[in-house]
Amino acid sequence: MKTANNSQNIPFNEAQQAWLGGFFAGMHSHILQSAGSGDAANARAITILYGSQTGNSESVAHDAAQVAKAHGLNPSILGMDEIEADSFTKLEYLLIITSTYGEGEMPDNAQLLWDTISSDDSIELANMKYSVLALGDTSYDLYCQAGIEWDQRLEKLGAKRLYERVDCDVDFDDAAESWISNIIPLMADGATAITIDSTSTSSAAKYGRKNPFPGKLVANRLLSSPDSSKEICHYEISIAGSELSYEAGDALNVVPVNCPELVTDIIQAIGCRGDEDEPVSGVLMPLTQALAEHFEIKLPSKDLLDEIARRSGGQELNNSLSSGDKDKLSSYLWGRDTLDLLLQFPEMQFSAAEFLALLKPLQHRAYSISSSGKAHPETVHLTISSVRYNSHNREHKGVCSTYLADLADDKTAVRCFFSPNKVFRVPEDNDLPMIMVGPGTGIAPFRAFLQEREFRNAKGINWLFFGDRNATTDFIYQDEIEAMQKSKVLSKLDLAFSRDQEEKIYVQDRMREKGEELFSLLEQGGYFFVCGDALRMAKDVDKALHDVIAKHGKLSEEQATEYVNQMKKDKRYVRDVY
Ligand SMILES: Cc1cc2nc3c(=O)[nH]c(=O)nc-3n(C[C@H](O)[C@H](O)[C@H](O)COP(=O)(O)OP(=O)(O)OC[C@H]3O[C@@H](n4cnc5c(N)ncnc54)[C@H](O)[C@@H]3O)c2cc1C
Ligand SMILES: NC(=O)c1ccc[n+]([C@@H]2O[C@H](COP(=O)([O-])OP(=O)(O)OC[C@H]3O[C@@H](n4cnc5c(N)ncnc54)[C@H](OP(=O)(O)O)[C@@H]3O)[C@@H](O)[C@H]2O)c1
Ligand SMILES: Cc1cc2nc3c(=O)[nH]c(=O)nc-3n(C[C@H](O)[C@H](O)[C@H](O)COP(=O)(O)O)c2cc1C
Repeated sequence: MKTANNSQNIPFNEAQQAWLGGFFAGMHSHILQSAGSGDAANARAITILYGSQTGNSESVAHDAAQVAKAHGLNPSILGMDEIEADSFTKLEYLLIITSTYGEGEMPDNAQLLWDTISSDDSIELANMKYSVLALGDTSYDLYCQAGIEWDQRLEKLGAKRLYERVDCDVDFDDAAESWISNIIPLMADGATAITIDSTSTSSAAKYGRKNPFPGKLVANRLLSSPDSSKEICHYEISIAGSELSYEAGDALNVVPVNCPELVTDIIQAIGCRGDEDEPVSGVLMPLTQALAEHFEIKLPSKDLLDEIARRSGGQELNNSLSSGDKDKLSSYLWGRDTLDLLLQFPEMQFSAAEFLALLKPLQHRAYSISSSGKAHPETVHLTISSVRYNSHNREHKGVCSTYLADLADDKTAVRCFFSPNKVFRVPEDNDLPMIMVGPGTGIAPFRAFLQEREFRNAKGINWLFFGDRNATTDFIYQDEIEAMQKSKVLSKLDLAFSRDQEEKIYVQDRMREKGEELFSLLEQGGYFFVCGDALRMAKDVDKALHDVIAKHGKLSEEQATEYVNQMKKDKRYVRDVY
């Protein structure tokens, strides 16, 4: 946890800490009696705003609200896209919980509010008291940038920071818990007294991020052809008996286990045996198990890089690190994993404890669900591109995609939990057109959307833009897609196979070709969905959307941007990009 200043820390008494411990451990807690300032009508209103792409910030917002209620406060939880700028400027007690996405960018649901608040210097927030919790990942250059920007902006506009911003790395639970337990009493002017009943637990509350459900892998089949230059697989994970449910548009997070060969090779490279017992979250376990189940051992952490650079004096690494030039460091690291670095400096020996202290916790990976929860209530379908590449004379494998492809079988309990995505949803109105742009694995949620439309017998137009490298090897779900065309569930299909001809053709080229029709469906209230690669595809598709709207709506660039922004506000332009 990083706080710039902890001096405002109001300590909790033992009973409170015990309760908070239980509360944050994920108990389903019901607050019987709110405390502090008395009845709800008189309780101080606080607003908890979250900016979230995959649900972490939202779930922390709910934790904060529970603690706020227990302190006699009256919290409202809102996504940043659920409040107008005018109302925002009138807030008096505000908690902001936001992640960072892309390359130091706001999560999608925070962008419009941020654009307004950051561009209007006439806003005065003298009546606002606030604190920011920033969620991020230290492996990104612009760590917690969105939270940092909100924090600085609110201060600049005159708001009073009640508690210093806390920046959280991927293992954000403890830092978030500490922030909540410090800021809430400040918002409640020190009110305490918590009475809760933590006895009732339901299965749905039992399983989640802190306690993943052990799902059974009931299907694993190759979707791409064996001759393809890539490997895309279809998985089905059973959630029978979990009492969990999901909706088309949600993501499933999978908690992987590291490849045993990689674990063995790393242990050998650092000069350990593997049977050294080390404590991990208070439990003693052999190094082999710790590395397999608890630590990220593929992508090197910043701490490990620094330590290897310091010990080895390796010039290229040191230069890349000290230059501050992120492109230089990225190009040095491209294709190099932890084992490559250890092998490059064979003198690098660590004790088990030293080595573990330099690693980051192993993270779950998110996958857009490719089935409709209504059509398949007991299984979750995933569509995953296996990360495999050769570099530095070794075969490299993505941790989670190849855990599912190579390691997990129907005897493995695949630990998983859902991340709901409330805005990435099939429109409630069954007659409205849906335009779906999903090349590569971006097709996943649209398979789910089409199943959902079929289940609802919805009559609205469904238009899919799909593509990948080559038609003969990478047209995944071709049979299903053609069957859905036949049954008229899929009204329109435009394909872009990038490598079937000399010039690359991408989905955005097809969008431009069909611009007139596309614009006409948008004018009819159509929804525009994008899923897949964030760094290149989603940006180019966004540009194409602006161009299509400007050209066929006969609008200026600014007017087209306004049009797109209105679509975003109406949740008719939503993205699930990674
Ligand atoms: C909301 C969301 C939804 C997602 N949905 C899907 C989905 O439906 N399907 C899907 O397949 N993925 C999806 N992803 C991506 C997924 O979460 C993982 O990031 C992906 O499977 C890779 O994870 P991994 O553990 O296999 O690889 P990791 O162990 O995380 O390794 C990936 C890293 O390997 C390196 N790398 C990869 N390729 C190369 C190369 N050719 N040369 C050199 N280095 C390379 C890069 O550093 C890359 O970051 C989604 C992500 C998010 C956030
Ligand atoms: N960081 C990277 O460099 C990189 C590279 C590939 C994949 N990925 C990641 O790998 C995961 C799975 O990838 P995937 O299998 O879903 O698909 P993908 O590898 O992203 O490719 C799917 C299709 O999109 C095309 N494409 C490439 N650039 C594009 C652009 N600017 N606009 C539109 N289409 C473009 C590809 O063409 P061509 O490949 O022929 O150009 C291919 O036909 C995603 O997480 C993705 O972000 C990352
Ligand atoms: C595609 C992608 C890009 C990200 N970019 C950043 C980043 O630039 N800086 C950062 O600190 N964290 C970054 N993160 C990490 C997220 O902020 C972090 O996982 C956070 O817990 C997500 O919270 P959310 O579920 O509320 O969105 C990124 C994560 C993903 C998947």
